[in-house]
Amino acid sequence: MSSEQTPHEEPLPSAGSLDDSLAFLREGYGYGGRRFSRLRADGFRTRLLGRTTVVMRGREAAEAFSAPDRMSRGSAIPASAMHLLQDEGSVQSLSGVAHRHRKRMFLELLDDEYAERLAERFAADWAEAVSAEAGRTVSLAELCSRVLTKSAVAWCGIPVRLVEVDRLAERLGAMVEHAGHVGPRNWLARARRRGVERWAAEAVTASRTGRLAVPSDAPLSIVARQTGADGALLDAGTAAVELLNLLRPIVAISRYLAFSAHALERHSGWRKALRSDAEARLDFAQEVRRWYPFFPGVLGTATAPFEWHGHRFEPGDRAMLDLYATDHDPAEWTQADDFEPGRFLGGAPGGPLVPQGAGDVASGHRCPGEGATVAVMTRFLALAAAEPAPYSVPDQDLRISLRRVPALPPGGLRVRLRG
Ligand code: HEM
Repeated sequence: MSSEQTPHEEPLPSAGSLDDSLAFLREGYGYGGRRFSRLRADGFRTRLLGRTTVVMRGREAAEAFSAPDRMSRGSAIPASAMHLLQDEGSVQSLSGVAHRHRKRMFLELLDDEYAERLAERFAADWAEAVSAEAGRTVSLAELCSRVLTKSAVAWCGIPVRLVEVDRLAERLGAMVEHAGHVGPRNWLARARRRGVERWAAEAVTASRTGRLAVPSDAPLSIVARQTGADGALLDAGTAAVELLNLLRPIVAISRYLAFSAHALERHSGWRKALRSDAEARLDFAQEVRRWYPFFPGVLGTATAPFEWHGHRFEPGDRAMLDLYATDHDPAEWTQADDFEPGRFLGGAPGGPLVPQGAGDVASGHRCPGEGATVAVMTRFLALAAAEPAPYSVPDQDLRISLRRVPALPPGGLRVRLRG
């Protein structure tokens, strides 16, 4: 039986409307949470973006959704978002053996040592940008996005002098910014993505032919040498998509840096600890990842039958794991809506922390970039909390709308850099 079961056999409640796509677009991050509490359930059925979808939250939901080889990603994501965030042939579109084989490459080049190298580059590029723009008032999110583009390019092994950093930053940022939109803004960003893909394919080819001298342990070299599960070298287009799968999300860390600065402004009592204590920086970064809105959820299509909370999923059925609602689940997190880095003290988070996906990173689709993300965030926190402060925050509206996906502080958080 498919997900169109008769109501009396169906243990999961229905959200009660014929189609919730508009409600989802209107309510943003709060969409799932509101219904979970109204229906007093951790899962409900609805119609979203043209398809029947079970929306789920919580620890058990995260485990069920993320069990190996259970949910594919490719066909679950609307094409408009897929083409901006991932694309055909990318690790996220793969399943089974092919996925595991490709995922190993990401785990290799995002291990602790590579993450630390990225954080080191970020710190150097940040210092340079802050002194180049001294005295100016800028959007912190934009500044960090440019800085991270430069760091990501160099970290990958591409000489920065060959790249127009500001233009690339703008294009990589647009891929995340417009993934949730439909219509002209999304089309424009997709057209521009094609241009960036061509550029990335040229970098792969130049690395393969030796036209570009890239150290053999640099991520670009590793991606360029990567084979499929069949042993054949990836075509340049697919390798380019994976190169962008490194560059784009590294630049997206700028959103977490703007959120970190926002949290630091709101909870300035942490400044002293952040200056001197690596554990405090880690706890603070984890709480930023838990509390602030990034991706509302991940969509998956069942590839095998399974049951969750009495609901039977058949192959082809779609589900959305609500990441934001899971990170704010009142059944799991004490004072879930309070920003409290202390909850991570001693390494026990007290709830399922899933802003970058759930489950096993090697066999599932969980983000391989969590270590790199946290490494850059903790480095930023040390720099932002330093004395003298590298910037001040002028009076401004610090409210973050949960209806706007992806979220950011208004204006990306305006800061005045030290003169
Ligand atoms: C900026 C913060 C980041 C957030 C919020 C984030 C979030 C996510 C999420 C929600 C997923 C999907 C998980 C799923 O489908 O179950 C994902 C997958 C992925 N992320 Fe990240 N990510 C971030 C940073 C990074 C970084 C820094 C990298 C690499 C440099 C990266 C590379 C990837 C890749 C390659 C996948 C696909 C994995 C697969 O399908 O197996 N991400 N990320």
